[in-house]
Amino acid sequence: MKILAFAASLRAASLNRKLIALAADAARAAGAEVDLADFHEFDMPLYDQDVQDSAGIPEPCLELCRRIELADALMISTPEYNFSFPGTLKNAIDWVSRVKPMPLKGQVCYLLAASPSLVGGLRCLWHLRQPLEGLGTFVLPTMYSLPQADKAFGEDGQLVDPKRAETLTAQVQQFIETANLLRGKVSSAAG
Ligand SMILES: Cc1cc2nc3c(=O)[nH]c(=O)nc-3n(C[C@H](O)[C@H](O)[C@H](O)COP(=O)(O)O)c2cc1C
Repeated sequence: MKILAFAASLRAASLNRKLIALAADAARAAGAEVDLADFHEFDMPLYDQDVQDSAGIPEPCLELCRRIELADALMISTPEYNFSFPGTLKNAIDWVSRVKPMPLKGQVCYLLAASPSLVGGLRCLWHLRQPLEGLGTFVLPTMYSLPQADKAFGEDGQLVDPKRAETLTAQVQQFIETANLLRGKVSSAAG
């Protein structure tokens, strides 16, 4: 099981970067191979069909597509911007959706969000499900939302609340089991 994981935030001190790093650790501990990408690797221009028609799909989008194709499953941790997910991520999804064959079709995805707010970004995940499911991605019904994320990490980068850490580990394990089943690769752990 190979997983592409990234935080949909560009800032160095991103809370979602911290969260996806922990999800990646949990996935490795569960036996997965993780490609932990930096969202800057997929910096791409704003979608413009004239650009697509004249210059084709931008190289950073093709790179994202290659990395999605190499993976059996995806984990995305996203900030919540104005009750939804960031335009940078929507832009990336829009470009990817123009590529044929479209690599998100049939993929399996686990969504996470970290926010300093009490709601923890959960609202944006419901929006993010929509384009992904519209494109044929199986999005795990269980989603992870980390409230008060500015206070949630210790200096070692771990979650200070053991219950939140346990939930993350359990959800990542559930995701890997589900992805194994959906991708037709039942893990040895599942028999
Ligand atoms: C443009 C903008 C809009 C935001 N809107 C929300 C919001 O609707 N809900 C929320 O919980 N946090 C909101 N925030 C705060 C972000 O959750 C916070 O900046 C978070 O740390 C961003 O994620 P990151 O640390 O991974 O970059 C907003 C931040 C920005 C810059």
